[in-house]
Amino acid sequence: MSPTLPHKVIFDTDPGVDDAMALYFALAHPDIEVLGITTTFGNVTVQQAATNALYLCALAGRQIPVTQGVARPWVKAGEAPPAYIHGADGLGNLLQRIAVTDTLDPRSSAQFIVDMARAQPGQITLVAVGPLGNLSLALRLEPELPRLLKQVILMGGTVLEPGNVSPVAEANIWNDPHAADQVFTAGWPLTMVGLDVTHRLVLPVTMFQQIATHQRHRATDTLHTAVDFYAHFYGSRFEHVAAVHGCFGHDVLAFIYLVAPHLFQTQAGQIRVATDGLAQGQTILKRQAGIDYPQAGWDAAVPTSTVCMAVDASECSELFMATLLRDWLPA
Ligand code: BDR
Ligand code: CA
Repeated sequence: MSPTLPHKVIFDTDPGVDDAMALYFALAHPDIEVLGITTTFGNVTVQQAATNALYLCALAGRQIPVTQGVARPWVKAGEAPPAYIHGADGLGNLLQRIAVTDTLDPRSSAQFIVDMARAQPGQITLVAVGPLGNLSLALRLEPELPRLLKQVILMGGTVLEPGNVSPVAEANIWNDPHAADQVFTAGWPLTMVGLDVTHRLVLPVTMFQQIATHQRHRATDTLHTAVDFYAHFYGSRFEHVAAVHGCFGHDVLAFIYLVAPHLFQTQAGQIRVATDGLAQGQTILKRQAGIDYPQAGWDAAVPTSTVCMAVDASECSELFMATLLRDWLPA
């Protein structure tokens, strides 16, 4: 194995059905080592997100530190979680759950990120797939964080694809736009995996059924049940998704970018987030480097990020399937 592998990752998440898919992809992939799971509000309350992270790890027989993070946006008022998308419990309204004895790491998510980055400088990739309040708080605790982390890969935002909570805003950015703008301007190597690519990856429920049949296990069965619920929401919104009874694999693509960046076409540019007004939550990409705009906010101090603009969705689908069909769960 290459000396840079496996990728050491902290997974910042609001599970969430596609967050669960992403977590299980990461646990099943031989080149990814999940060092910790930091949770945030978003798809569910932060308490439920932490409960779900512990639950998903317990189902998969894995002991990974889980922390509870921010409960609300940094500046704007919080909103009720979208129970109609992920279920009131975030995992498609599971009818029953097994008992879990593992408990939370007592640190806040932000403190955990800072501690881990200080302990292993330059080693850790932060994969963030929820609203960005934990990263924003971690930056305030440790301003050197951009030099202590290896990179940040986040699922959120959109450039050309219409938004999913407003005509221009994607949910994770909408949920905490001030935190997101801080994250995009912090100066770490950052890749945005947004709706421009995640709306290309449609995963049919039959894939999850096949995974659950291939390896009969509580973890694969729970994922299948949760995705079946989640697919009903996407089917109600998108005809082509309804046609295959499927869903978008949003958060999974952040991990697929980590292990297979060659499957993506990217563009470099400065990114800012509209924090207020009608465009709140919009991720604005400055696509022409040569233009010196007269408006404030686009000077050279704004770092350059990488944005995923296109993806080979069928290769991603195959990689997802092949990874989840590995022998990754205890008997
Ligand atoms: C993002 O919002 C959440 O609903 C999903 O988990 C994903 O992170 C997609 O816009
Ligand atoms: Ca998410």
